[in-house]
This record gives sequence, structure tokens and C-alpha cells, in this order.
Amino acid sequence: MLKFPVCAAIAVVIGFTGTATAEDAAELAKEGVPAYRLCTACHSLQPGIHLSGPSLADLWGKKAASIESYGRYTEGLKKADIVWGADTLNAWLANPQAIVPGTTMTFRGVEKKETRMSLIAFLRQAMAEGGSAKVVKDGLISHDSAEGQIPPDLSSVGENQRIKEIRHCRDAYYVTTADGAEFPFWETNVRIKTDTSARGPQKGEPVLLRSGMAGDRVTVVFSSLAEISLLVAEKC
Ligand code: HEC
Repeated sequence: MLKFPVCAAIAVVIGFTGTATAEDAAELAKEGVPAYRLCTACHSLQPGIHLSGPSLADLWGKKAASIESYGRYTEGLKKADIVWGADTLNAWLANPQAIVPGTTMTFRGVEKKETRMSLIAFLRQAMAEGGSAKVVKDGLISHDSAEGQIPPDLSSVGENQRIKEIRHCRDAYYVTTADGAEFPFWETNVRIKTDTSARGPQKGEPVLLRSGMAGDRVTVVFSSLAEISLLVAEKC
């Protein structure tokens, strides 16, 4: 007779502790969200979306530098014998350069231990399998933050950004947009980029992006490397 209530009491205690721990973990993960915002400049939590850094999806418990579709890992990270978990992330996020000298993760590190602990509590959820969808569903971060700071979608921009013609003459590029306007830009103010992803420009229609205070600096984004030589001609 005595045994049952004791077992029940233990079960209750275990059950209670379990819940409290899960709640603590959830609370700590929430506190880690502001620190994670720094990562979104270079990382997405969504599988297969690589920015400057690789997607962090499903990396918890995985070997470092193991995402095949990310081709820009340093030799140092590839050779480092790291499996991502609380301890390895703690060291990496304190000072990436100290763990992998020469790493291209140009991030000075999270100095405060408490901040790292909460960030890692967040990453434990976010980097688990299916974690990206879960942290969004749980209201920890927005869909946009989970996606990371991906470049703007250039596949459906307006006529004033779609380039119909681009020619080079003397020290300038003359850019004609789909609405018929032609603009001269000093060649030194023009950056040429490619975005070969599905979110890049339509084929044959590079996109004009204005930047700089006066809009005098521009970026012309092509959908492929071949298009640069196909579409830009010397013509005065
Ligand atoms: C300035 C861009 C940048 C920022 C900011 C940045 N990272 Fe990175 N991260 C990278 C790059 C680039 C790599 C690949 C490094 C290499 O190959 O040496 C990387 C690698 C990683 C890896 C290893 C990935 C793998 O596949 O093994 C993890 C984990 C990681 N970063 C987490 C973070 C977290 C968490 C933050 C925020 C606290 C962060 N990073 C901030 C650019 C960045």
C-alpha cells in the first residue's frame, strides 16, 4: 500500500522537474534571440539557403563543414574535428578565429558567457532537425529572421529597374530601363554583380539597384556571367 503513493510522488516530482526544465530552456532560448539577430546577416536557418555563411539548418550534432551544397568552407574548418553541440558552439561563438585561424566567419565573437549560453539554448532548438519551422511556429523569431538577410528578390522588379540596354562609352555606362529612360553613370560608381539564384533577375534583363545618398552609385545585377559580355557593349 505504501509503495504506490511513493512511486506516484516520485513520478510527480520527475514530471514537475521535467516541465520546469523545459520551461527554463524555453525561457533561456527566448533570451538568446537578440544575440541571434547578429547571425542573420550571414546565416539562414532554412535548409539549403546559403548566404555569406552556410545554412545553420539541422547542424546540431553534425560534423562541421559537412553541408555539401555550400562550397565555400575554409580548409581550416573542414579539417577541424568539430561536432556541433553546446560545448563546441560555446568555444566557436566566443572567438571563431581562435578555434579555426583564418576562418571566413569574420565575426568578433560573443564575449559575455551568459549571452552565449542563451544564444546556444536558442540554437539548440533552431539547429535541430526541423528547428527553423519550429522556432517560427513557437513565436521565437519571425519567418524573415529565420530566413536570414537574403538579397532582395529581383525576379519581379518594376520597369524602372529592369534594364533593356546597357552600353559603355568613354568613362560611363549608359543604362536604359524598360520604361524607356536612359541614365549615364560614371563607370567608377557602377558595380557589376551576378545573382544566379531563382531570386535573381530574369534572363536577359539585368536589374538596376540604386544606392548612395544621391542615387549616383548603382549596382547592375546580371542573371549569369555570360550575360555580362552578351549585354554590355562599347557604343558611343
Ligand atoms: C560576417 C558573416 C557571419 C556572421 C555575422 C556569422 N557567421 Fe557563422 N559563418 C560564416 C561563414 C563565412 C562561415 C564558414 C566559415 C569557414 O568555412 O571557415 C560560418 C560558419 C558557421 C558555423 C559552422 C557551419 C558548418 O557548416 O559547420 C556555425 C555553427 C556558425 N557559423 C554559427 C554562427 C552564429 C550562431 C552566428 C551569430 C552569433 C554567426 N555564425 C555569425 C559567416 C558568419
